[in-house]
Amino acid sequence: MPKEIERELALEFVRVTEAGALSCGRLMGMGDKEACDQAAVQAMRRVLDTVDIDGTIVIGEGEMDQAPMLYIGEKVGSGRGPRVDVAVDPLEGTTVLSKGLPRSMTVIAVAEEGCLFHAPDIYMDKLAVGPRARGAIDIDLPIEVNLRNIADCLEKNVSDLVVVILDRPRNQNLIDSVRKAGARIQLIPDGDLSPAIAVAFEDSGVDVLAGIGGAPEGVLAAAALRCLEGEMQARLWPSRPGEVERAQGMGITDVHRKLTMDDLVKGNDVIFAATGVTNGELLDGVRYMGSIAKTHSIVMRGTTGTVRIVRASHRLDKKRFHVNR
Ligand code: FBP
Repeated sequence: MPKEIERELALEFVRVTEAGALSCGRLMGMGDKEACDQAAVQAMRRVLDTVDIDGTIVIGEGEMDQAPMLYIGEKVGSGRGPRVDVAVDPLEGTTVLSKGLPRSMTVIAVAEEGCLFHAPDIYMDKLAVGPRARGAIDIDLPIEVNLRNIADCLEKNVSDLVVVILDRPRNQNLIDSVRKAGARIQLIPDGDLSPAIAVAFEDSGVDVLAGIGGAPEGVLAAAALRCLEGEMQARLWPSRPGEVERAQGMGITDVHRKLTMDDLVKGNDVIFAATGVTNGELLDGVRYMGSIAKTHSIVMRGTTGTVRIVRASHRLDKKRFHVNR
């Protein structure tokens, strides 16, 4: 049996997401999404290499020929620690941050080698709930049936539920069905990772995340829900030519099969960390105050179920990674 990922590493991963958030947060509203992403990638990459892991990126910025850093297959970490799979979304919500809208954050999930689903950067249909509704969902059933089962578990009426859905034409049938079922809907313009995690917190005001969004964000949400004992079911949703072949090239033989928690994140030995860049239902965004900046992060460990909320104050003049000022 491989050794558990050391608990000390959890706080190291927060340092990684904090670095990304501090670096890209300054670019809020500037309209340059590539610059936002690049700032987060560079800062996270730099700090990640100081962490004692022998990591391989399984979810990252794309294939090796598409991204200079944090590409799929890239080795990260000092090389001295446990062999782990690393999933990163250096900036979840690039457009969001470039416009200064809510729900952008920097994210990392780390699990024992071979335990994270190697998802291609295509779409994925997702259904996510918190711990009280775990076991009540089945993505193969109509959404109205799922909503009834979820409502029963939460001791609510279907009309009390709040379902978060990305506002996209591809989700229109789902939106119509949820409306017909009578649940309340929150249509979001971007950023489905934050609400997919927020469903596990009873006071978040959201109960279900449903619909088609990015597959990498789906795996990261599953890693967080593994720590929070929630549940996600999913199915890849290839929509452009060549995507089925790309998925098959990554070892996914049946591209259309239902993905359960065990397919997405095997076992409990997973650490998830995220830092808010702009405000969201889960985290506050970065606050800059002259030479000081404040961050709000969450870090969780699947083996123990510990959830830490970390509010940190940073001296920007003492940071070793580049922070836009
Ligand atoms: P980016 O960080 O790449 O901008 O992704 C944000 C996001 O809104 C995700 O939260 C979501 O899963 C995905 O994009 C949806 O993709 P699309 O905008 O193509 O519908």
